[in-house]
Amino acid sequence: MTRYDHLLQTLPQHPKTWLITGCAGFIGSNLLETLLKLDQRVVGLDNFATGFQRNLDEVRGAVSVEQWQRFRFIEGDIRDANACREATAGVDYVLHQAALGSVPRSLNDPLTTNDVNISGFLNVLTAARDAEVSSFVYAASSSTYGDHPGLPKVEDTIGRPLSPYAVTKYVNELYAEVFARCYGFKTIGLRYFNVFGKRQAPDGAYAAVMPKWIAAMIRGEEIFINGDGETSRDFCYIQNAVQANLLAATAPDESKDQVYNVAVSDITTLNQLFGHLKRALADNGVAYDKAPVYRDFRAGDVRHSQANIGKAQRLLGYAPQFRIVQGIEAATPAYVASVRSATR
Ligand SMILES: NC(=O)c1ccc[n+]([C@@H]2O[C@H](COP(=O)([O-])OP(=O)(O)OC[C@H]3O[C@@H](n4cnc5c(N)ncnc54)[C@H](O)[C@@H]3O)[C@@H](O)[C@H]2O)c1
Repeated sequence: MTRYDHLLQTLPQHPKTWLITGCAGFIGSNLLETLLKLDQRVVGLDNFATGFQRNLDEVRGAVSVEQWQRFRFIEGDIRDANACREATAGVDYVLHQAALGSVPRSLNDPLTTNDVNISGFLNVLTAARDAEVSSFVYAASSSTYGDHPGLPKVEDTIGRPLSPYAVTKYVNELYAEVFARCYGFKTIGLRYFNVFGKRQAPDGAYAAVMPKWIAAMIRGEEIFINGDGETSRDFCYIQNAVQANLLAATAPDESKDQVYNVAVSDITTLNQLFGHLKRALADNGVAYDKAPVYRDFRAGDVRHSQANIGKAQRLLGYAPQFRIVQGIEAATPAYVASVRSATR
């Protein structure tokens, strides 16, 4: 039995109180759904900057009335220290997801990205330390590898950041390390690599590649590939990221004060991704017959990204259950339903 299987069995008998910041977003709402289904008590903090009430409504529809009653939502901003104090009071485990994602957003507006991702992070971290929570897990990012050419990426070898967003995520790691050293408050950072799955926003200038392409394919629009299509990513299905969060929150002390790659260790080019999505949509009754349109490389993007996940496997017991194609198969019906309901 894996450590995760064991956790899924034991958590419902020993419910804890979890804070999910960014719980109305993509990853946060999937964490919320899993934890409520495991009969946990959850506090959620979100200001709907990029998250949606509809994500919370969808979770409400997916859990029982009793499970939903164990959820307390605070509409608030992580830049507000009082909101962070209120949210962390009486909490066992923090899963800090709230941030402004997207490299292009940070290039357009570095100040707001800095405020939310660094000052907001520091507010949540300080409040969690003061509330003496048992575990603090935060969303770090593969963007921290920056311009380092080595593959696969190993946690202790990083390059220089390629965007303001990458700077903010690296500063999170520095603060986390300093809080362990100065206050003995040990945290875990999860460097996510291109997470995808249901409730990932398909629209807007800053949408991630997978939901954006699927939405465009369903609408019969053109798909634009930045560069030659040989740019590669280690796409990670949401349930793998959920697993990593639960394992990290419940990890023993010796596995804390660390960052971990959260991915699959597969390498997929954008050209391959296009093929995977086309096939998955065909299986869901959507035919797409246009060829992709190639355009310039995008500023701030790293060329290749693939994780070594050995550290998370060894120290957290992480065992990703979905490779990219299985993840796409699992996610496509929800992507299709959400695009269709938005266009109705
Ligand atoms: N999705 C990925 O592939 C990926 C990769 C690397 C890192 N991450 C990180 O994972 C986390 C979650 O990302 P996501 O993909 O779910 O994005 P998302 O935009 O769907 O979720 C972020 C949530 O945070 C909330 N939020 C933003 N600013 C806030 C503020 N000031 N106060 C309170 N709430 C605020 C948003 O409203 C949203 O609900 C982020 O920290 C992101 O940087 C994601």
